[in-house]
Amino acid sequence: MLSIARSALRPSIAAAARRFVVPASSLHTLPELPYAYNALEPHISGQIMELHHTKHHQTYVNGLNAAEESYAKALSPKEQIKLQSALKFNGGGHINHSLFWRNLAPTSSGGGHLPPNSSLAKAIQEDFGGLDALKKKMNATTAAIQGSGWGWLGYNSDTKKLEIVTTANQDPLLTHTPIIGIDIWEHAFYLQYKNVKVDYLNEIWSVINFEEANARYEEAIKA
Ligand SMILES: [Fe+2]
Repeated sequence: MLSIARSALRPSIAAAARRFVVPASSLHTLPELPYAYNALEPHISGQIMELHHTKHHQTYVNGLNAAEESYAKALSPKEQIKLQSALKFNGGGHINHSLFWRNLAPTSSGGGHLPPNSSLAKAIQEDFGGLDALKKKMNATTAAIQGSGWGWLGYNSDTKKLEIVTTANQDPLLTHTPIIGIDIWEHAFYLQYKNVKVDYLNEIWSVINFEEANARYEEAIKA
């Protein structure tokens, strides 16, 4: 179904052609979680998960849709440029959180378990000396983020190695293929862990979906 955008301010054929019709199907939507809100307890509380998903992620989705709608109506490059930060922030928020939900799993569904013979386990052994060493290094790097951001285990297609990277705010990881992402915004942990970011980081490994991470890694090394 198509929706018609509202009135034209400065009618011209070109502007009218740009303003026109925005397919409703192009709107971004909040993805369903593949588990219940309380399924990651006691490591991440149901209250955090529900608020994080229905309020925070929904806000990024709404912001992205609004920014894209404004961009489609923008009449000049200057107006389009003004929208870049909103597109980056909300688009990054939507991309990062969509990835984050899938990169977690309840312990009853294999969360926290790295299959020892998986491609990812072998790469972690080779690049970090094992999972414990990876956790230690990634927690230290991620805890050091100033302000809000994300900690990543990413695959560098140039070096052919796994590397730990951070991004600020809601910037998505563009230099590497994301394998595991950890949300280090306070909304991801404060209700349960208060200001003790390190406790959150230690606990989240118990619900990391390594099966999903391994699938991403295998896809990344094929590309
Ligand atoms: Fe978040």
